[in-house]
Amino acid sequence: MTLTIRSRLTIWFTLAFSAVLILVVGVVALKLYSQFDTETRDTLRNEEQWITKLVANEFLHIATVQGEEYDSLAADLNENLEERYGLKQQFAIMAIQHNAEKVFFSGGMKDIEQLLPADFWERRAGVYNLVIADDDYRVRLFKRGWGAAAVGMLNERIYEVAEEAGQILVWLVPLAMLFAIAGGWLLAKLALRPVVAAARSAESISLANLTKRLPAYSGKDEFGALVSTLNRMIARLEEGIKRLQQFTQDAAHELRTPLTILRGDLELAYQDENAADETRAWLQRILDRVIALGQIVDNLMLLARSDSGDYPIHKTRFRLDVAVKEIFEDLQILAEGRPLIVHLQNREAVEFFGDESLVRRLLLNLCDNALKYTSQGSIELSLKKVDTKIELAISDTGKGIPAEDLPRIFDRFYRVDKSHSSATGGSGLGLAICQWIVSAHGGKIEVTSDLRKGTTVRVSLPGKSGQEIS
Ligand SMILES: Nc1ncnc2c1ncn2[C@@H]1O[C@H](COP(=O)(O)OP(=O)(O)OP(=O)(O)O)[C@@H](O)[C@H]1O
Ligand SMILES: [Mg+2]
Repeated sequence: MTLTIRSRLTIWFTLAFSAVLILVVGVVALKLYSQFDTETRDTLRNEEQWITKLVANEFLHIATVQGEEYDSLAADLNENLEERYGLKQQFAIMAIQHNAEKVFFSGGMKDIEQLLPADFWERRAGVYNLVIADDDYRVRLFKRGWGAAAVGMLNERIYEVAEEAGQILVWLVPLAMLFAIAGGWLLAKLALRPVVAAARSAESISLANLTKRLPAYSGKDEFGALVSTLNRMIARLEEGIKRLQQFTQDAAHELRTPLTILRGDLELAYQDENAADETRAWLQRILDRVIALGQIVDNLMLLARSDSGDYPIHKTRFRLDVAVKEIFEDLQILAEGRPLIVHLQNREAVEFFGDESLVRRLLLNLCDNALKYTSQGSIELSLKKVDTKIELAISDTGKGIPAEDLPRIFDRFYRVDKSHSSATGGSGLGLAICQWIVSAHGGKIEVTSDLRKGTTVRVSLPGKSGQEIS
């Protein structure tokens, strides 16, 4: 699957954006987590110090005193602990050896001594994560001369951070991705706009209008460099093509004069009554060839001038049906003596705005082909107006054109039968000229053909709107 640059940019942008987002949320969460972690540790360490100090200052005798004194100290200790831990999500528990018996004092959580794991007091001093009454606690166990103690703190905030981060990611990532897709698509569109514009105008540049250039791009970036490079390339192409066109035109022009002189000389020689029949026949053959050569040169000249836009097109309003009728009559004469019938289908007067001599040349070329490539059967000319179009068709029952050659018959010098010695010998420029004439009038030309059955050439020319086309 090939993706457009625009979709690729969008995908990259979205991926990069989401990755950055996940990274940022992850880093923030990690930072918070470690912050809470140290906070918890610090708090527990503080509490350890507080308890140590409390005992050292006020309750050092509790292990040894007895009776009422002990009872009041014990009550006092419990009160102290309850006062400090009762309102927080914390607890403290002390296990003090009194009269060879372990007594507990606690604050912050009821019955904490029963909620601790059975082996808790045998454990080594340290920090433990414990589940107490279904909650996660961080518990710091420490030992002193008077016994052991533990302070615990709800781990909730740490888990909250993890959960929160997870939740943020769950809704933020898809949302951000949507945003990134839309943003990326838009950004890519903006970034690629000059490319699309350049491609569109490059599309309209062809050999016929090499004077056109890609729209100037003001930015001094890579794209600006590309546009000016391409424009310089088009300029060089234009220059080259111009020189080539000029060369063809000059060559045709240079050939014309000697050919005209040659033709005149041959005609003179042919008219010499003293010449032997054989010589005259020979002269006739050469004359035919010189005439054909002259035609090729004329056609070449016309095409060269049409390429460079130098050919003067004189448009007038004229009766197309009359021109067709005249050419049809010529065709009738040329078909005489051959097993060929020529028809004309045209019942209405058809006016056309165009260059009459070029249009006649078009008709002539098409009829010439029909006649050349049809040995028997019929040739039919038809002319009619359909809506705003004029439709002209020339059908024959001739040898037809092989399907593989059909796309190329409008190419210059292209002939299906490549042998130049063939009796029907043309140069292969006729249809190229037809195509130019039709497009110079804003029309279309189309050829359909069945091998050995016949060929139909359809020309469609603008009717009413022909006037506007200059
Ligand atoms: N009506 C047709 N029937 C069969 N083949 C055709 C017909 N018209 C054109 N072709 C084929 O297309 C080729 C090109 O036609 P085109 O008119 O350009 O050249 P040409 O007739 O050979 O030479 P030119 O017209 O320059 O004298 C011809 O050589 C011929 O093979
Ligand atoms: Mg021809």
